[in-house]
Amino acid sequence: MLENAGVQVIETEISDERQQPFDPETALRVLEAAFEHPIKLIANALGVPPPAMIEMGKKHGVPAALVGAKEHAIRQVNAGVDILVAQGTEAGGHCGEVATMVLVPEALAAIKNIRDVPVLAAGGIMNGSQMAACMAMGAAGVWTGSVWLATTESETSEIFRQKMIEASSRDAVRVRSRTGKPARQLRSPWTESWERSPESPGALPMPLMSLVSENALRSVERAAAGGNDKARDLVTYFVGQGVGLVENVRSATGVVQDFKSEFLEAVERMNALLDDE
Ligand SMILES: Cc1cc2nc3c(=O)[nH]c(=O)nc-3n(C[C@H](O)[C@H](O)[C@H](O)COP(=O)(O)O)c2cc1C
Repeated sequence: MLENAGVQVIETEISDERQQPFDPETALRVLEAAFEHPIKLIANALGVPPPAMIEMGKKHGVPAALVGAKEHAIRQVNAGVDILVAQGTEAGGHCGEVATMVLVPEALAAIKNIRDVPVLAAGGIMNGSQMAACMAMGAAGVWTGSVWLATTESETSEIFRQKMIEASSRDAVRVRSRTGKPARQLRSPWTESWERSPESPGALPMPLMSLVSENALRSVERAAAGGNDKARDLVTYFVGQGVGLVENVRSATGVVQDFKSEFLEAVERMNALLDDE
């Protein structure tokens, strides 16, 4: 498929001897290097962090954890994290199956009697009124990802930003075809072929799938930027269902200002409901 699109695929050799980034020893060395910088917060996802990481987090900053189910929330709070991010299935990137609207109150109720840990809501939050809704449910704040992808400062290409504007929420699919674990990303012939084509060998487990996908998708981006229409079709990136709410590309400052005014408007709307009584 890539060759048909005129895309050059760079082959990656996997050496048995090379340490992999997920190797616990390598991860600890990366953490030590990271903590030489003034880090205020360290967030862990895809499982309970090892005790050494929580200790380092407590010494240098605040250890936080992303969770997608109430059971994960309980495990993380028991392990000692100080902030929980309850991330619903709407989110871009690796995500679980429970929606933000259900997960936030479920996580809050589950940890209530263990420890007083602030819960940030995540997944699908693209504006200030959604932020107000999450805080109305008891979240201490929100944690966002996809909304920043449609900003002038983001790492995304202009082509991907345009595809975000064109997409609806149903175009953000939860598939394994980029990392090997279910991760929400923009539907394209890349995701469709890996998931649904009878010729697909299926995704490799994490972290091997990224070795297949990352170089190939970088080539796709380059070919698309060079004007190759088939490569443009293939372009994909992690993004959540909130992509359906993207109407234009803004500056990051513009997003913050919009969040503030939308939050205020939402709170005023709710207050007006009380005034009417
Ligand atoms: C492009 C992209 C990359 C992400 N990478 C990571 C990551 O490396 N580690 C992680 O814990 N979460 C990652 N996430 C998830 C975000 O931290 C955040 O929880 C999520 O984007 C929130 O949902 P939203 O995208 O609907 O705002 C990523 C999300 C996106 C969109």
